[in-house]
Formats: sequence, structure tokens, C-alpha cells
Amino acid sequence: MKTRAAVLSEMNLERPYEHSRPLQILELDLDPPSAGELLVRIEAAGVCHSDLSVIDGNRPRPLPMALGHEAAGVVEAVGPGIIDVEEGDHIVLTFVPSCGTCAECGSGSPQLCPNAAAANAEARMLAGGRRLHNDGTEVNHHLGVSAFAERAVVARGSAVVIPDDVPFTTAALLGCAVLTGVGAVLNTAAVTAGESVAVFGLGGVGQSVVMGAAAAGAYPVIAVDPMESKRKLASVLGADMVLPADGAPASIREITAGGVDHAFEAVGNAKVLEAAYASTGRGGTTVAIGLAHPDAMFTIPAVSIVGEAKRIIGSYMGSAAPQRDIPLLLGMWRAGRLPIEKLHTGTLPLSRINEAFDALADATVVRQLIDTTTPA
Ligand SMILES: NC(=O)c1ccc[n+]([C@@H]2O[C@H](COP(=O)([O-])OP(=O)(O)OC[C@H]3O[C@@H](n4cnc5c(N)ncnc54)[C@H](O)[C@@H]3O)[C@@H](O)[C@H]2O)c1
Ligand SMILES: [Zn+2]
Ligand SMILES: [Zn+2]
Repeated sequence: MKTRAAVLSEMNLERPYEHSRPLQILELDLDPPSAGELLVRIEAAGVCHSDLSVIDGNRPRPLPMALGHEAAGVVEAVGPGIIDVEEGDHIVLTFVPSCGTCAECGSGSPQLCPNAAAANAEARMLAGGRRLHNDGTEVNHHLGVSAFAERAVVARGSAVVIPDDVPFTTAALLGCAVLTGVGAVLNTAAVTAGESVAVFGLGGVGQSVVMGAAAAGAYPVIAVDPMESKRKLASVLGADMVLPADGAPASIREITAGGVDHAFEAVGNAKVLEAAYASTGRGGTTVAIGLAHPDAMFTIPAVSIVGEAKRIIGSYMGSAAPQRDIPLLLGMWRAGRLPIEKLHTGTLPLSRINEAFDALADATVVRQLIDTTTPA
């Protein structure tokens, strides 16, 4: 089968991407699903910073690679051995193709599945190999999803079946931004009502942290971003106070008389992680969500971690178990507690995907969606 897909062949091209065109829309060959795999028609795919970090060289990956990892779609074919998904099912795709049988999967931490981590690191399918080819040359998969495409073949463990009435534009954002941000609040940090929260970086992930903190009853929720438009949206989503980035730690320590109970970093910058740590109060927790460059070092005064009894914790995919958490998040969305639609700041056709990455790099948008169903 043929599918149009956005393929990256060279990292680190100059901005604007609209002119350098790092992503090319190619007509690829897509193999049928192997055992334990699904063929999915992609209906909406979100533009996340983790894709941008591959394009700009902050997360070097094997090339050529078909990008996109936050999406929703419809199952078109079911590979051998799958008994719990049917053709026509609506699904959310997540970026860890958990195997379901390892110790981590079996103990409730499928986001840490070592088999999925190995497949993602090697940019291949969980079951091995690649299903995408360009004139006979293998094309690498991004996080087992490669969703900037009309169709994708994915592992069963990448998919969560959802009810048919959930709009794809909402469902797609559950796959990364919302699962990661709300999960960091509810699962990783286990924020409780009345605890104070600071969020650094108000893109799709950080705004989801704000929504999650508000839903958990945190107070105050302090949202930090250099962009005024981001701070405005955070106020709508439940932030009690908003601050520009400059001087934020000192202001946060003053507002909270010493620092917050939980400070989240959702930028992917080691200096901002240091600012989040400096904003964390005695006995508090700094939660690292952003993915910094592999060479970036995080430096803190060694004595402070003991003297102030602080914790630093990483949150990968919101410490989520997607089969449990996506239905839970959908329930909160239906109840009006997670206004996920408000993250959506526009839809572009696949042919304009490079412009979408320019807008993300300029930080003028929260979550754009790529409509993979429109002809070029
Ligand atoms: N841990 C995970 O599982 C996981 C999952 C998804 C994304 N991520 C990572 O999370 C990060 C955020 O992703 P996103 O898609 O929301 O990104 P985004 O680009 O949409 O948002 C980043 C925001 O940070 C703001 N920012 C820049 N400098 C800042 C500063 N000094 N202080 C405060 N804010 C600042 C920008 O204005 C922007 O609003 C990325 O590093 C991404 O790779 C991690
Ligand atoms: Zn993502
Ligand atoms: Zn596993």
C-alpha cells in the first residue's frame, strides 16, 4: 500500500523551515501489519516539540525518519494474533509501544517498557524491522507511530481504543501532550488539593500541567512563560498567577514564602530546570518533563538537596499506563475538568507541515494539528 508521509532526511537545516523544507512529503510503501500490529488511518496528528527537537538536532535520531508521534485515527486492518481491536475502532496512539509482557508492563509501568525503549531508540517497530520504504530503502519510525502520514502501521501496545464520539482533534492531543502533562501532575508528582505548583513552559505539555494541577485542586498554580499569549491561555486553563520567565524563581519564592511544593519543567532546557529547582520549596519536588539536549548538564548546589530535603524526579509520558489513563482523562474531559480543545491552535494540511514547525519554534502556537486526510 502507498501512503503520503512527512519524512526528515537532514537535521539542523536553517530556519525558516518554510524555505529550507526539512520535511518532505513523500509517497512511501507501507507494509501490511505483521502479527500484533494494526493498520491505522490517521485522522489528526499533533505537532509536538519532541518532533521539532529531531528536526533542529536537539534529539538526534536515525534518518531518514517519518516523524509524528501524537495522533488519533481509525483501525483499517488488524494483524494476526490481535483479539481485542477490530476494524473501524477509533484509537489514540501513544509514543511507547509497550509489549504488555515484561516486568515493567506487568507491574503497572508500561511507559518504562524496556522492549519499547529499545525499539524507539533503534527507530524500528516493537516486533522488529520497518514497515515504511522509499523506493526500496527503509524509512525509520518515530516512536513507533510516524503519524504525519495518511496511514501508519503500529504495534497493538501503541494504541488505546476510545469511544467513537470523541472528536479526533481532541483524541490526538491525549496521545502525548495531555497524557504527559496531566500524568506528570496526577501520577508522577501525585499533587493533592491545596499544594502549590509552578509550571515552567506553557506549550501543549505545560498547559496540560496547568489543567491537571487545577483539576487536582492545587493552590496556587503559578504559570511561567516568556510569551504573553501563553500566559493568557494558562489563566483560562486554571493558573492563579502568571509570570514572565525573567526573575520567576525569586517571585515564586516570595509569593509562596519559600517555594512551591511541586515545580514542573516543560521546556526542555537545563537552565529552566535549574530555575524550577530554585523555585521548589523545602521538602518539595522538582519534576523534569522537558527533553534537554543529550549534552546539556543540570547543575545545582549539592548541599541544597539535603539541607532543603528536596526531590528531583523525571516524568516520562506522565508516568502513565495509557490503557488505564486515557479512559480516565477522557472521563475528566467529559466532566468539563480538562478543556483539552483549548490547546488546539489551528489545523494545517500535511503539505504545510514545515510552516507548522516554524510556528512551534517561534512559540506562537500551543498545539497545531496536521490534517493528514486533505489532499496535498
Ligand atoms: N517527558 C515526556 O514524556 C515528554 C513528552 C512530550 C514532550 N516532552 C518535552 O516537553 C517539552 C515541551 O514540549 P511542548 O510540545 O509543550 O513544547 P512547546 O515548544 O510547545 O512549549 C515550550 C514553551 O516553553 C516556553 N519557554 C521558552 N523558554 C522559556 C523559559 N526560559 N522559561 C519558561 N518557558 C519558556 C516557550 O515560550 C513555549 O511556550 C519539550 O522538551 C518536549 O520534547 C516530554
Ligand atoms: Zn510529544
Ligand atoms: Zn513491556
